[in-house]
Amino acid sequence: MIKIFTDHPLRDLNSFHVEERADQIIEFDRREDLDEIFAEADAPAKWYVLGGGNNILFTRRYEGTLLHPAGQQIRIIDDCSESSVLVEAEAGTDWDRFVEWCVEHELWGAENLSLIPGTVGAAPVQNIGAYGAEAKDVIHRVHYFDVEQRRHLTLLNAECHFAYRDSIFKGELRGRVVITSVEFKLSRTPQPNLGYGDLKREVESRGEATLRNIRDAVCAIRRSKLPNTAVQGNAGSFFKNPIVDKAIAEQLKAANENMPLYPAADPTKSKLAAGWLIDQAGLKGYRSGCVGVHDRQALVLVNHGSATGKEVVALAEYVQQRVLEKFGIGIEAEVNIL
Ligand code: EPU
Repeated sequence: MIKIFTDHPLRDLNSFHVEERADQIIEFDRREDLDEIFAEADAPAKWYVLGGGNNILFTRRYEGTLLHPAGQQIRIIDDCSESSVLVEAEAGTDWDRFVEWCVEHELWGAENLSLIPGTVGAAPVQNIGAYGAEAKDVIHRVHYFDVEQRRHLTLLNAECHFAYRDSIFKGELRGRVVITSVEFKLSRTPQPNLGYGDLKREVESRGEATLRNIRDAVCAIRRSKLPNTAVQGNAGSFFKNPIVDKAIAEQLKAANENMPLYPAADPTKSKLAAGWLIDQAGLKGYRSGCVGVHDRQALVLVNHGSATGKEVVALAEYVQQRVLEKFGIGIEAEVNIL
């Protein structure tokens, strides 16, 4: 079913809770609805996909159409192998509901990604990740509507060009596709991924490395470090962890012994912790008017009340400048700024 809303307030549709409006929102729950939406003479000229609104910052009125996928079915599509199961979830499914569903069905692979806010359709776009796992580790195929070709198409995992917080959907397919569902390959065989030290400790305090204990441990860590968007507007990590040449990372490490440093997919590079850099620049808990840097995780910018998107952007630029001055490292926004 297609529902159309005009001149619609966005405050409750973005996790930063900024007050902007959109000319139009079209909510749909079947992939065939997209044929109808884009076939008509008045097919939207300017559009953007709004999932859970968890990784977006509106800085002005959206003068176009926000497409909101509402389908939330989860189904097993291939249960024939002894070791793995293929599951398809529609784009509008709440990500954490999907993870809970996997845990209830004793399927391994998504548990470290518990409590990440957002929808299943958004997961492949920025290849969501946490605690040593990424969505790409479980995504099998992505089904989408190609707006230019007006066709329903599918990409296999290897065709999605997944990388740290990146995919083809942020690259060459940006602004061209609407993801309608994602197929996941999950394991029946236990595969605990406890490489992340804090997680291992938190799981051990609960007993065995069961799916339930891992999910509960991840939820507990996230709740202790990250602000609840229902209480304090935010979009999770505002910045990506920067990936820099190994030589630069090692120079910084020599000058800052306790600086966290992670390997990157490219062996000539290293990944730094943007949260640590911002923290060391003295900005953790910093506040300017209605916007601020979270006091437990400096990677998260928060709305303390009635901030506008422009105020958040001004704070982000200030943070970027301070980190650049102190460490010579540029940090990039992870959040989509509209
Ligand atoms: N750190 C500080 N101060 C801070 C924040 C972090 O010193 O204010 C240090 C930590 O002590 C640690 C290192 O920086 O040594 C990394 O911190 P953390 O483990 O909290 O992870 P992160 O790199 O800051 C990433 C993801 C998070 C995800 C965590 C856990 C990105 C952009 N962020 O954060 O994802 O939950 O790892 O795996 O990659 C999100 O995307 O919204 C998100 C919260």
